[in-house]
Amino acid sequence: MAVERTLIILKPDCVKKGLVGEVLKRFELATLKLAGLKMKKLNKKILEEHYAHHKDKPFFKGLAKFMKSSPVVFVVVEGENAVAAVRDMAGPTDSKQAPKGTIRGDYGEDIQVNVIHASDSLETANAEIARFFKKSELFDY
Ligand code: CMP
Repeated sequence: MAVERTLIILKPDCVKKGLVGEVLKRFELATLKLAGLKMKKLNKKILEEHYAHHKDKPFFKGLAKFMKSSPVVFVVVEGENAVAAVRDMAGPTDSKQAPKGTIRGDYGEDIQVNVIHASDSLETANAEIARFFKKSELFDY
């Protein structure tokens, strides 16, 4: 299996509920490595770029408002098969459908307030990592 890097955004509900450590601990316990980490407030411009495929959907306005409601935490997670491994750990997008034991199943509220964003493919991961991190902010150790 190949070593991959994937991008995670810990969303405002995760930050405001004090669950950042809890979620990061799950990745560390799964022997996934944290290759980059930062806290930042999203703005309209970057949200329109990041969620370009959702820009015309009826839920976009509410999603953007939610994503701007507090700082978020960006994490680059590295490990074998990291893209799929992280998405499995996150669970389905709709927290109400997510099984217990997944991050969204344990801590999410619904389809919007769902704790975590995780890249959906290696190609997307590469683009999303480049969007939010400079090369100098990523670490090999
Ligand atoms: P995320 O993994 O960040 O990718 C797109 C986000 O859009 C998704 O998580 C949800 O938070 C949000 N989303 C997707 N579908 C809906 C929907 N029907 N209503 C509200 N939010 C949605």
